[in-house]
Amino acid sequence: MTALQSSACIWPARLHHLRRDSTEPEQLARFYGQLLDDRVEALPNAQWLVQGHGRRLIVGNGAKGTVPYFAFAMRDAAQLASYAAALEHLGVAREPSPSPLFAEGAFAVTDPDGRRVVFGLPLRVSGIQSALAGRLQHFVCASVRVPGLLAFYRDILGARESDRVLENEDLAAVFLRSDPEHHSFATFRAPASRPDHHSYETGSWNAIRDWGDHMAKLRIPLWWGPGRHGPGNNLFFMIEDPDGHKVEFSAELELMTEEVVYRTWPHEPRTLNLWGTAWMRS
Ligand SMILES: [Fe+2]
Repeated sequence: MTALQSSACIWPARLHHLRRDSTEPEQLARFYGQLLDDRVEALPNAQWLVQGHGRRLIVGNGAKGTVPYFAFAMRDAAQLASYAAALEHLGVAREPSPSPLFAEGAFAVTDPDGRRVVFGLPLRVSGIQSALAGRLQHFVCASVRVPGLLAFYRDILGARESDRVLENEDLAAVFLRSDPEHHSFATFRAPASRPDHHSYETGSWNAIRDWGDHMAKLRIPLWWGPGRHGPGNNLFFMIEDPDGHKVEFSAELELMTEEVVYRTWPHEPRTLNLWGTAWMRS
């Protein structure tokens, strides 16, 4: 059987929220509240919710810079149920969702790096409006086992491979999509597995300008960019949060149909930034 036939059907699913942990969770939540101009509220169990239009971040008490889980919203209850059944059939262990933002029926699986991936349906629609548009769109981690993560996310969870970056025959990075947007998850090789960044899709180059001006007002220097990524073809810049986790603001991310097969890029600075210098992490 091919991967498409044997894997569960994640399509379409969108990154809905993630949890970022810190030894100073309230401080980190307030940082994100200011960064995004979003509402910050305390949740039970020493967690914080930072929420704006199309974006939600849970901040918890834990090891500095970690992302213990990220969570996908499925299209509807029928898709969630059939996805759970398909994973059951594949022998994938499921556990109850750790997220306070998903309704009953949500569940989590654990990837080869030990990070949980949650699938569910949002508990409530916030109705919050935000001055600056930026929908939470993707999460990226560094890993010591990129081939293992590719096999898990593509062949078990059913994500489609959009692009891969190769150094000789070695996988330096891989980008996976769960709906037409080029990637909702990506990973690149590194000496240690760790979260790297999450990204907000802002909609247009003018919105990137407005976010840049917002950073200037906050006196937060851009860490990388502006530039244009090769894989995904998106405009971007990144900043660092207080733990060194990166936050990306992106626009015009490439769209691909479900069937398109992956392309291959060389491992070189131009792949990471078509416009100029690159931060070669792998
Ligand atoms: Fe990114």
